[in-house]
Amino acid sequence: MRTPFVAGNWKMNKTIAETRELVFKLSMKLRDIHGVEKVLCPPFMSLMAASALLEGAGIGLGAQNMHWEEKGAFTGEVSPVMVKELCKYVILGHSERRAYFNETDDIVNRKLISAQTFDLTPIVCVGETLEQYESKLTREVVSRQTSQSLRDVSPAFAQRIVVAYEPVWAIGTGKASNGLEANAVVKDVIRPALAKLFGDETAQAIRVLYGGSVTSANASEFFGQPDIDGALVGGASLKIDEFVAITQAAVI
Ligand code: PGA
Repeated sequence: MRTPFVAGNWKMNKTIAETRELVFKLSMKLRDIHGVEKVLCPPFMSLMAASALLEGAGIGLGAQNMHWEEKGAFTGEVSPVMVKELCKYVILGHSERRAYFNETDDIVNRKLISAQTFDLTPIVCVGETLEQYESKLTREVVSRQTSQSLRDVSPAFAQRIVVAYEPVWAIGTGKASNGLEANAVVKDVIRPALAKLFGDETAQAIRVLYGGSVTSANASEFFGQPDIDGALVGGASLKIDEFVAITQAAVI
């Protein structure tokens, strides 16, 4: 049995003051929802304020990125040790990082190995672009991203990894994929790639989320699929009633 998982990726939104207000209001409602792992990922600057407000609320905190090195001359970067002071989770390889900051599978993999070293639970994102989707390259691209981004970690750590399948064409566009199509990618591409890396049993134990224009209106369609275990939510995670409804829908 895989525990459902819902994470809110706030991206580059909300000041510290705005974070305080949103986290306070969200936690009031989310704390009463059980049977789903709940995670909020505000910007780095807001993690400290969010962490104080979330104490004892049963809601996890995640960073949206990190460097792989522990410390050193990497101007502007945040290390896994710093993330670990406040967070249990970290999003790695989001398509916006891959597209705008040149993150490759190799870089994502270095960060994943660092997450293992520093005991962080990673949410690793994979997904094809619109061009790749239209050229029918989805399976090839997602398989390669999964096997290269997730290689060289221990099977014990692998069980903790959360994978997010996010078709790039569905992110922030209001054009979500559909349940059957997304489930097919998870079942026929992602889980077999995980099985090759870690064995069948571990591949079945790893949570795989869908992400890309998830709303309260379409969440159940994805959560009802046998291979989809939750969602990575962007835009809708900034709206209290939307995110609460999506989280509620993930409870089995
Ligand atoms: P979206 O973003 O829900 O706004 O499409 C999802 C994501 O980027 O994780």
